[in-house]
Amino acid sequence: MEIDETSGTVLLRTAASCYVLRLDTAAGSVHHVYWGAPLPLTDAAALPVWADHDNSFAGRYDGVEEYPVDGGARFAVPALDIRFDDGSSPLEPQTAGIRVAGEGHVVVSLRDRNRPLAWELHYRVPAHGDVLERWTELVHTGENRQEPVLLLRYASAHWPMPLRPRWRMSSVNGGWSAEHRLERSELPVGETTLSSRRGHTGHHTNPWVMLDGGQADEEHGEVWAATLATSGSWRLTVQRTAAGRAGVVASEGHEGVEITLAPGQRYVTPISVAAYSADGFGGVSRAFHAHVRHHVLSHGDELRPVLYNSWEATSFAVDEENQLELARRAAALGVELFVVDDGWFGARDDDRAGLGDWTPHSQRFPRGLRPLADQVHQLGMGFGVWVEPEMVNPDSDLYRKHPDWVLHLPDRTATELRHQLVLDFSRPDVTDWAYEWLRELVVDNTVDFLKWDFNRSFTEAGVHAGGSSARKVYVEHARGLYLLLDRLRTDFPDLRIETCAGGGGRVDLGILRHTDQAWTSDNTDAVDRLTIQHGFSQVYPSTVMSAWVTDSPNPLTGRRVPLAFRFHSAMAGVLGIGGDLAHWTPQEMEEATRLIALYKDIRPVIQHGRQYRLSDPNQSPVTAVQYVGADAERTAVLVSRPSTAFGCIHPPLRLRGLVHDARYRDEDSGAEWSGATLAGFGLPVPELPGGDYASALIRLRRV
Ligand code: DGJ
Repeated sequence: MEIDETSGTVLLRTAASCYVLRLDTAAGSVHHVYWGAPLPLTDAAALPVWADHDNSFAGRYDGVEEYPVDGGARFAVPALDIRFDDGSSPLEPQTAGIRVAGEGHVVVSLRDRNRPLAWELHYRVPAHGDVLERWTELVHTGENRQEPVLLLRYASAHWPMPLRPRWRMSSVNGGWSAEHRLERSELPVGETTLSSRRGHTGHHTNPWVMLDGGQADEEHGEVWAATLATSGSWRLTVQRTAAGRAGVVASEGHEGVEITLAPGQRYVTPISVAAYSADGFGGVSRAFHAHVRHHVLSHGDELRPVLYNSWEATSFAVDEENQLELARRAAALGVELFVVDDGWFGARDDDRAGLGDWTPHSQRFPRGLRPLADQVHQLGMGFGVWVEPEMVNPDSDLYRKHPDWVLHLPDRTATELRHQLVLDFSRPDVTDWAYEWLRELVVDNTVDFLKWDFNRSFTEAGVHAGGSSARKVYVEHARGLYLLLDRLRTDFPDLRIETCAGGGGRVDLGILRHTDQAWTSDNTDAVDRLTIQHGFSQVYPSTVMSAWVTDSPNPLTGRRVPLAFRFHSAMAGVLGIGGDLAHWTPQEMEEATRLIALYKDIRPVIQHGRQYRLSDPNQSPVTAVQYVGADAERTAVLVSRPSTAFGCIHPPLRLRGLVHDARYRDEDSGAEWSGATLAGFGLPVPELPGGDYASALIRLRRV
């Protein structure tokens, strides 16, 4: 980070970008100057701030302020909107200085001219990375006798964009079993908001947005992206003004989720991570992937094991005998981690009862889980269990004992979804209870892995805090969850956790700081997964993307897909097996064993390599994803063609990220090509079997 004291200019430098801001003491503001390809500080310090026309209807600095507040001639989306106890809202900001808080970390301080509120804008460039992190800390600077301040909107950051004639926005949308559908469309003048009002991240969209001038493609052109690391409610408002400005305000909490700040209190927002790349959408994705692996995940350098999960095979009807049978078959395939899903506890015969009573089901596991865990370990696999700690069925002993622990409003009907209610994890007594039974579960049963599920959105949320902060549980629940996860991970450093919320309903850069991988979607159809995975990969790396090979026909879609295609689709992330192995034929078992061994061989490249999306499943008959390992020694390409057509020509796959003057040998066919040929002409698409659902894994090694 570089600072020009004279002009008050701060320049933050990432591996391939820079971000410039300037303190304007007279205006009481921090102005955005530049975000894009690297510049020298001397130039940055001399660049003008592009203020709007000065007239009586304009906010002169609308769109160029780093952290616009509500107050003065400001009419753009505020990052900070508050109410003092006397009902007054407008702030009158004054700059209060810049300080360097550590390597790559600078803090710009502001405060209100005469009211007791101060705010600090934190900027950090994680070491060796190509992203920027921002968050804001809000402090009530008053004395005890002063009244609280109500925070109405308390954004992590405003990310202003440069001036461009047009803007295009990319984001994902969808729903349960249809997550991460990528959409790219013209950004209209006005305010476009992506949001979750559900108390969790959501399946219907995800807290990130990418903007480009309309010409960027997968590997070329400038792209700017902003995300928010939160697992509660959130709002990303993308604004484009008639004057041609664009920017993103990234904020925890949806509208009406207010937070009371008492004298002396500090509120720290979640981190908003942003990236700029001149190498298209793929460049931005790779910047996020590296950031997640090196700075978000606690064990980003570990290889994720091949797991087996019982859900699609045995549903709720798990018992010691059928799980052991599945475990024996899974071990024979080369599976490394066996996970017993829902149904092992309480009176959990279906989804109507049991959540909250976390002791083994008395008929199905009369000896408890330990004998199964021991046998799974003897088979050479890790032992995992499914849990859903934040939920309770009204038909449970826990609910009969603690009906007040759920999110509810006294005079409202508590809406049940999937016959369950949400426990209030913003309450330490509730998370203490969860910690105790989870600790016992892990210790007593030598549990190596938890699949941590969450199967409904919030409704009637918010009495516990009461008063004006009644709804803050929409953000505080997730913070309580993070503390609990951290407590468990501190006490059990070898425990690994998979985040799940009915599939991909809680995947974000916040939860990934406290877990190890994510269950991507309840939709395990290998063809549908190609588009889900394409959207998922825009921000999240393959090392967290859990994907299972399940049975054919697929239980959700009824589609019949050959085993190899199912494998090639699932190999794009953390491979798992989720089919009913009791019914797999000897030929299927043999083929699966071979494909799992193949996956293990190429796993370091897929899980830790750089990822290049060679084609888009929404636009091309062939989906191809390439992974390049360390030093470009090995590369893998997964190719899938779900449906065929006469005369459909597959152009060669132009590979990326290879050394041009090196030679690469196909590890299966022996064919050899130079890096230059593979990039320039491309890798001829292999002879795929005829018909629909053709697929291949190609492995190339440098010779
Ligand atoms: C939803 C998850 O996404 C599934 O994989 C499974 O664990 C079920 N819940 C169990 O109830």
